[in-house]
Amino acid sequence: MSKAFDIWIESLAATALPSLPSATGAGDYYPERVVRPNLSSTVAGGKRFHIETFGCQMNAHDSEKVAGVLLERGYRAAENLAQADLVLYNTCSIREKAAQKVFSRLGEFRYASPRKVIAVLGCLAQQEGEEIFERAPWVSLVCGSASYRKLPELLTELEEGGRRVMSLDLDTDETFETEITRRDNPFRAYLTIIEGCDYACSYCVVPHTRGPERSRASDSILSEVRRLADAGYTEIQLLGQTVNSYRDPSPRGIDFVALLRAVAAVEGIRRVRFTTSHPNDFHREIVEAIDEVPALCDHVHLPVQSGSTSILRAMRRTYTRDEYLEKISWVRAASRPISLTTDIIVGFPGETEEDFEETLTLLDTVGYDGVFSFKYSPRPNTTASSMADAVPEEEKSRRLAVAMDRQREIQIARNQKLVGAAFEILVDARHEARGQWAGRSTSNRMVNFTSPRENLLGQYVQVKVTRAGPNSLVGDEVV
Ligand code: 5AD
Ligand code: SF4
Repeated sequence: MSKAFDIWIESLAATALPSLPSATGAGDYYPERVVRPNLSSTVAGGKRFHIETFGCQMNAHDSEKVAGVLLERGYRAAENLAQADLVLYNTCSIREKAAQKVFSRLGEFRYASPRKVIAVLGCLAQQEGEEIFERAPWVSLVCGSASYRKLPELLTELEEGGRRVMSLDLDTDETFETEITRRDNPFRAYLTIIEGCDYACSYCVVPHTRGPERSRASDSILSEVRRLADAGYTEIQLLGQTVNSYRDPSPRGIDFVALLRAVAAVEGIRRVRFTTSHPNDFHREIVEAIDEVPALCDHVHLPVQSGSTSILRAMRRTYTRDEYLEKISWVRAASRPISLTTDIIVGFPGETEEDFEETLTLLDTVGYDGVFSFKYSPRPNTTASSMADAVPEEEKSRRLAVAMDRQREIQIARNQKLVGAAFEILVDARHEARGQWAGRSTSNRMVNFTSPRENLLGQYVQVKVTRAGPNSLVGDEVV
């Protein structure tokens, strides 16, 4: 059964953007403070939008939902940035670099065509608010990540000629649900089950940009999963900043593990992933469910942030190194191998060489299959930003390089052991030049492989691994 529910027309987020002058034509350039006409008066026929997304999967999925709101309203997806009447930037502010990237991108629009209406959404919008209009007066809409439900009203204001339309409301207990979601990926569907965050990690801007935690009703989640299965999706990725602190707000009141089991039981769903888990809400029952239910993918992303208990305390992570390692031991004791990945931050204020060593030994002890490592970046409104004993930038860079090298060695050794093994791969890409297909195993390993067959996109195939690198495996289809 096909539904209007899911529309993937073309890629939602631009990967390579044309440079503005050649894209819009020199005649389209106007001085900085020119008054921009509003959307409705400049555009005959359907207005066209283009969204560029920065940051995490939650943002990527928010953009899919924002695109749904726009399509429902009669907008059309532009083929590229140059053709768009409405350009939306869905922004990230997790680290300073991410925020700078957005401002430099916005700067490129200083002299862009006045036919373009520019909107800034997401975490940086929430963090900077009015300041965005000051720094980039060519922006007409600023909408924080907890205000998406108000988008229709905000768009009306914009269409009626509003110049500085803004919503930064964080005080909400509602989640952002849409009639239409324009999904980007035809094989894996993202689905946000919980928004915001009630933790207060001292380095993190998210509680300030995404607001308090609010879960979506289980019935609504499950009916969306059924619609996704009807539309042909077989893999669902449940999203939340702290996905495993999910609490069903409806009278059914099911917990995260019950939700996982219910999603995995939906007919047609073959793979269920979830990210990101907080160690504090990571209970043994999650491992038991993965162990028992084949559709629950054998992969857990469990950010540790640091291997040093004193740094974890300063980070307000709510667990010690040993408590974290105990949770890892449950995962390791499962009857099927479960792949583990994590996030670490190096150079947090006060991190000594010994603290850093403890992060390195934690990497050795756990043996992760993947690590996202970051240099600590002070963020506005966070308690860590005023902490003493900042680690110098060069030292942060050195620690980052050391940690990445160490983890690379670990991954090479772990992946090498997989040569000769066979995995079921959901095929999601074709590299024509290399004559290879690509996809992921349930443990989320990237596998590139050859096959004598054609048209494998979206199919599940068995692949035998012949070679291993630090970040991916190579193999041949077992036919
Ligand atoms: N500096 C560096 N890394 C950060 N992260 C979150 N906040 C910061 C910060 N201020 C990292 C954490 C988190 C990941 C999404 O980003 O590791 O898990
Ligand atoms: Fe940020 Fe901590 Fe919340 Fe994760 S749990 S979003 S790191 S405050």
